[in-house]
Amino acid sequence: MTLMAAARMVAPVFPLVVQCSGVSLRDERAGDVAAREDLLDAAFGPARFEKTCERLREGRQAARSLALVAAHGGDLVGTLRFWHVEAGGAPALLLGPLAVADSHRAFGLGGALMRMGLERAQALGHEAVILVGDEAYYKRFGFARAPAQGLDLPGWYDPARFLGLEFAPGALAHAKGMVVATGLKDRRRIARAA
Ligand SMILES: CC(C)(COP(=O)(O)OP(=O)(O)OC[C@H]1O[C@@H](n2cnc3c(N)ncnc32)[C@H](O)[C@@H]1OP(=O)(O)O)[C@@H](O)C(=O)NCCC(=O)NCCS
Repeated sequence: MTLMAAARMVAPVFPLVVQCSGVSLRDERAGDVAAREDLLDAAFGPARFEKTCERLREGRQAARSLALVAAHGGDLVGTLRFWHVEAGGAPALLLGPLAVADSHRAFGLGGALMRMGLERAQALGHEAVILVGDEAYYKRFGFARAPAQGLDLPGWYDPARFLGLEFAPGALAHAKGMVVATGLKDRRRIARAA
């Protein structure tokens, strides 16, 4: 990452809230964590902790300015985070999980979170993003299998769902081998309702 990009991460230049039809897209706050975890439980079930991507997220902080939520009134109805990784020697972001509450799906909220996150990631100077997800959904944002082809993940995954996006052309061209977590360690405990 360039110095300019690092400086931007210290002093984010993003609007705090984007609002549309009563739904706000904004940075996640400490008080959102329990509701975000409930939303992820509802979207993915308990098996979400067994996903291989979780091995790259557990015990780490999400990338700065790249933990986003959608809020409607007092309800948290969408979440998207990105994580620092080294992808076969190249610095990159891991995207996910992305989830929208059942009650708010198919209104464009998932797409809005994706666009906001990707625009921020690019503005911060990140050069590539990888994820594991449905190509049928993510290809509309520019994700494809080819950029992730030389890479491997620390556990089982379906190669057809391992996708990449290069902001800088060729950012992953020479990336080969294992993806490893590089985010700051997170020592906070998640407070959940019993
Ligand atoms: C995927 C998800 C985030 C989409 O949120 P959303 O707010 O409904 O998304 P949008 O309104 O922006 O887009 C809806 C479109 O995406 C399509 N879509 C949703 N999930 C899809 C999938 N897995 N594969 C292909 N298309 C999908 C819808 O059919 C709809 O298509 P249309 O625009 O042609 O009508 C939401 O369905 C969700 O939370 N799912 C459960 C968790 C999940 O699977 N997360 C993503 C995997 S990491």
